[in-house]
Amino acid sequence: MKPSFIPVSMPDLSDLETRYAAEAVASTWISSTGAFLDRFEGEFAEASASRFALGTTSGTTALHLALAALGLGQGDEVIVPSMTYIATANAVRYCGAEPVFVDVDPATWCLDPAAIEAAITPKTKGIIPVHLLGHPADMDPIMKLAITHGLWVVEDAAEATFARYKGRLCGSLGTVGTFSFFGNKILTSGEGGAVTCSDESLCHRMALLRGQGMDPQKRYHFPIVGFNYRMTNVAAAILCGQMERREAIIARRSAILRLYAEELADVPGVAIRDDAPWAEAAPWLFSCLIDPVTFGCRRDDLATELSERGIDSRPMFIPIHRLPPYRQSARKRRTVLPVTDRLGALGIMLPTYPQLSDAEVLRICSSIREIGRAHLGRRVAAQLHRFTPAGEPRKAA
Ligand SMILES: Cc1ncc(COP(=O)(O)O)c(C=O)c1O
Repeated sequence: MKPSFIPVSMPDLSDLETRYAAEAVASTWISSTGAFLDRFEGEFAEASASRFALGTTSGTTALHLALAALGLGQGDEVIVPSMTYIATANAVRYCGAEPVFVDVDPATWCLDPAAIEAAITPKTKGIIPVHLLGHPADMDPIMKLAITHGLWVVEDAAEATFARYKGRLCGSLGTVGTFSFFGNKILTSGEGGAVTCSDESLCHRMALLRGQGMDPQKRYHFPIVGFNYRMTNVAAAILCGQMERREAIIARRSAILRLYAEELADVPGVAIRDDAPWAEAAPWLFSCLIDPVTFGCRRDDLATELSERGIDSRPMFIPIHRLPPYRQSARKRRTVLPVTDRLGALGIMLPTYPQLSDAEVLRICSSIREIGRAHLGRRVAAQLHRFTPAGEPRKAA
């Protein structure tokens, strides 16, 4: 029997989410007010150790909302990693500001605090550390720099729901935290996001901007230009189900990550990021680096061969400073990010979702091992072919 196709991610939705979504529909409260929305925002704020949480339409709009509420505008600069999903930089551009890319730490793959200060200019307004692939950025030195230079910090926790830094929840450490509930995220409503913060006036500003800028005291009076970034009550209903089941979802994803780490630990040329001693990473997509010399082939060849065996994967993010909308300005600033480039060239993300069985993880790991071994074997054979059985170099035919 042909083994089944293994996607890179899959939402984990149960009868509970189906029931709550049906309840929202039956209630006719399907737009952006309703009991599920209130419940989700209350529960998510509490679970994220923030005073307030606001549901949004996506992680991207959550970022834009935060930056707009902080007053980011034309001519401003924001320090961001280039090793992240493009939404982090795009949200800065939506405000007319410019992202200034800084390298990541080779140990955490997140913004390198030691590289930030040199990038700060009089135009810098803030820093967006991204808790990449679920691992927290080293927040203490980042917050210290922000305080010294009078900058705000927006934590992009899209991939890191409920990750902890030194025991504290990611998203509650900076000025604002932003989250994504896209289909491949730890909690999902298909599309969706949230901002968290503990500053009441900033939260009011974000609420105002999220709802077209409508004056809460005077209906249909719009003192400012806002957006429609409101989450629906149906999406919130799905998220209420996900919140009830979050411990089981996180436990299964974590077990999958541990199994990958055990199985791939001794495969030559496969490097796995260890969690920093202060980190409790959120179990997003398992990722590792493929060194072409010691593994036997390049990351992209591995991905192609995995796909031929019915296993999907994702290359690591293309560094944003290499992408068309950003490469010219990065070149002008003489941006050089060796760690980011290395991760972008070697990184691969492997299937991670609660329904993935241990047997499937083992199948993926043994496929990786076999593919590497086969390439190394062919390489040795080609080397040997250059010599006669007596050890003399073969003459060209
Ligand atoms: C680091 C990061 N930031 C922002 C986003 C944007 O979230 P969304 O896709 O919900 O707009 C993502 C989503 O993949 C992400 O990984």
